[in-house]
Amino acid sequence: MAVRLNVKAIVFDLYGTLVDISVIAERCKEVAADGEAFCGTWRAKQLEYAFLTTLMGRYRDFLYITERALDYTVAHFGVTLDTQQRKRLLDGWLEPTAYPEVPSALAKLAEKYALAVLSNGAPRMLESGLKATEIRPHFRWVLSAQAVKVYKPSPRIYQLAAQKTRLAKNRILFVSSNSFDVLGAKNFGFKVCWLNRSGAQLDPLGPRADFIISDLTELARALGLN
Ligand code: LAC
Repeated sequence: MAVRLNVKAIVFDLYGTLVDISVIAERCKEVAADGEAFCGTWRAKQLEYAFLTTLMGRYRDFLYITERALDYTVAHFGVTLDTQQRKRLLDGWLEPTAYPEVPSALAKLAEKYALAVLSNGAPRMLESGLKATEIRPHFRWVLSAQAVKVYKPSPRIYQLAAQKTRLAKNRILFVSSNSFDVLGAKNFGFKVCWLNRSGAQLDPLGPRADFIISDLTELARALGLN
């Protein structure tokens, strides 16, 4: 599949898109009988709190809401965590791994496009994650929700990427594995690629991504970089 997009920059979501956070699910299994359900509730609450704080105009950084979501989850599952266990779970957000194809695909994409990360993550999380995965050098910009104090899918956070790159919205390709982020970015006016790594179900709400891929190598190929 080859796509003609006429874009100058590619902006990436981070968690689940470039970096793998399955270490968190593994760690949840150490503390809860149903680790998968525990992790699912934690992630769902984290997202809910990001949306709530944005709608209420009461931004707190992503580490804070991740911790509050963990507090909820622990109480919901009746789990007791000691300080070490709690730290180990939260540190999962700071110690992701890059998906295997990501470093080489980014190197290829960076030859032709200016690359950026635009994430809900707090600056400390982004620094730590990009350092742990050694992919920081590929990016000209690393942008956090912290700069605008709202979370995706608010148009204001996508606007930050347009401002920094000084490009028109339709000269930017946004890539995310998260369906709500795909909706938000497309709603804002970017060209959008849904990186559907896990065969997730399409949200029929729309607007829809311009195209769908299953890993970043496919993106490089689709853009004619072999
Ligand atoms: C991020 C989350 C949404 O990096 O994956 O913004």
